[in-house]
Amino acid sequence: MGTIFCIIFSLFYVASSKTINVATNGKVTLKSHVEGEIENIVWMHDGDKMVDWDNKAVNIREYLKFKGRIKLDVKSGDVTFIHLTKEDSGLYEAVVMIQGRIISIKHRVKVIDPVNKAKVSCPSNATLHCEAEGDSLDYSWSGPGLQTEEMRGQTGPQISKENQDSVYTCVVNNTVSDSSVTYHASDCFTSGDYFHFII
Ligand SMILES: *[C@@H]1O[C@H](CO)[C@@H](O)[C@H](O)[C@H]1NC(C)=O
Ligand SMILES: *[C@@H]1O[C@H](CO)[C@@H](O)[C@H](O)[C@H]1NC(C)=O
Repeated sequence: MGTIFCIIFSLFYVASSKTINVATNGKVTLKSHVEGEIENIVWMHDGDKMVDWDNKAVNIREYLKFKGRIKLDVKSGDVTFIHLTKEDSGLYEAVVMIQGRIISIKHRVKVIDPVNKAKVSCPSNATLHCEAEGDSLDYSWSGPGLQTEEMRGQTGPQISKENQDSVYTCVVNNTVSDSSVTYHASDCFTSGDYFHFII
């Protein structure tokens, strides 16, 4: 007859299912969602330590590329960091010890360039064209007389004498930002490019 020792380690995982999108050079706060007094905590990015603390230590230690741009709230366990670059995309994990219990929290972060320099042009065939800088851009148009199929994509309406009094708007967006530009159809007639088209 033996004595069975039953040691139960409780390891809780709180994984956030959706990706947190952040603009390049922006800032993010990752929540730990823990309750109680934290004994120690470590935050990691793709397995590398970013910051850690335990209640016996005086200092919060920051690591590698996160030095100087990270702030750990030792009460809540939340971590905030700034000046995000694309290299900061990836999986973040906190391992927190509270009353002898280990809790792990995961977040996925994606850093993308916001919409920048959106502009509408009227190339030689008088079909409006919208262009911008940024990652994973969605383009859409609004204005009088547009068919549903003309309302999506970089290519806008074709300008003719009949619609030259119209004003069209191109909206460019991605998961972190959006931008819109309006264009007066009459400008298509005054731009140099269009000259060939009228003849
Ligand atoms: C006119 O320009 C648009 C935008 O660049 C293009 O999608 C379309 O194919 C062009 N049409 C002709 C007839 O060249
Ligand atoms: C852009 O905005 C539209 C309308 O609000 C939305 O349906 C779409 O998902 C957005 N695109 C991206 C990439 O977030």
